[in-house]
Amino acid sequence: MIEKTMRQFLGENPDMKYLFFGGKGGVGKTVLAGAAALWFARQGKRTLLASTNPVHSLTSMLDQDVFGVPTLVEGVDNFYAYEIDTKDTIEKSKVEIRDKISWFLKFADVKTKADEFVESATMNPAFEESAMFENMIDLMFEDKYETYVFDTAPTANARRLLGMSSVYSMWVNKMLKSREEATSLRELLSYSKKKQEKDPLLEYLLEFRERMARAKDLLTDDQKTAFFFVTLPEALPIAVIKRFITWFHDFGIPVGGVVVNMKIEDDAVGEEAPDFVKNRLKMQQGYMEGIWSSFPDVRAIVPLFETEVRGVEMLGRTAEAMFG
Ligand SMILES: Nc1ncnc2c1ncn2[C@@H]1O[C@H](COP(=O)(O)OP(=O)(O)O)[C@@H](O)[C@H]1O
Ligand SMILES: [Mg+2]
Repeated sequence: MIEKTMRQFLGENPDMKYLFFGGKGGVGKTVLAGAAALWFARQGKRTLLASTNPVHSLTSMLDQDVFGVPTLVEGVDNFYAYEIDTKDTIEKSKVEIRDKISWFLKFADVKTKADEFVESATMNPAFEESAMFENMIDLMFEDKYETYVFDTAPTANARRLLGMSSVYSMWVNKMLKSREEATSLRELLSYSKKKQEKDPLLEYLLEFRERMARAKDLLTDDQKTAFFFVTLPEALPIAVIKRFITWFHDFGIPVGGVVVNMKIEDDAVGEEAPDFVKNRLKMQQGYMEGIWSSFPDVRAIVPLFETEVRGVEMLGRTAEAMFG
């Protein structure tokens, strides 16, 4: 039995603004995020459904090109969808890093080309991931929408950000202190009374610390933010979200609850159904028992539909199942 449904949960948390859907690949994160966004839009909230997924999942689910720019979904007021251009985001991030490194090398009077440093700073998968994460945070800070639904929870990044932020803040504080000391020493020693020029690296550190703190505030605010975890009644996806939920509790990131997707409805399987369907149903029923005992916060069970979920109408049916 569901103790608190999605609708009840959102009723108790009327300021909910940032929703994330996490879980194993293929469990229906994009579909459920889309259904949630549609539901919020229909409640009259200006809603952005955003994806950082390099595959064109939103465009194909909505049957409408939403790549690169937030686009109003045809036929629904208030519903904007946006597939973030990952390549563009990563390129921009590289340019920014290049500028900073070049500036620093000049500042430190090092006669090396920035390129090698840029290569080593950006040639790793974590860089792309964190560029996407930065992009997501920018969207949140811009604050142009009343509700944001992200189709893939940046699980590793959120965890890293929150785990690192106190350590990072300590580090930045130390850096700042030693730079301030160096600056005042230099001012003391300089014969000319020329005013010290601005220190971009110092400014960058300050700004970055500020951003981290703001992101942390938003991501840990349980009035505004909720991470939902999607699973199927199957072993692997259950194991995956168990791990995620434990991490998230450890870091104080608010977990909104669990959504079970693609459950075969019991009464859909009659005596005449083929064995593989009956067996699958039995298997799911077994895993449902595990789900009930492992997750006290199941919010919805969405049935396995007769087709894949594409287009606004199917999303509406999914929303009905999730919030109805
Ligand atoms: N309840 C459902 N019934 C039928 N098909 C579903 C259901 N939920 C998702 N799907 C389909 O399953 C596939 C995977 O869903 P998707 O949302 O893309 O997963 P993810 O984003 O987690 O990788 C898609 O083809 C989608 O249309
Ligand atoms: Mg997806």
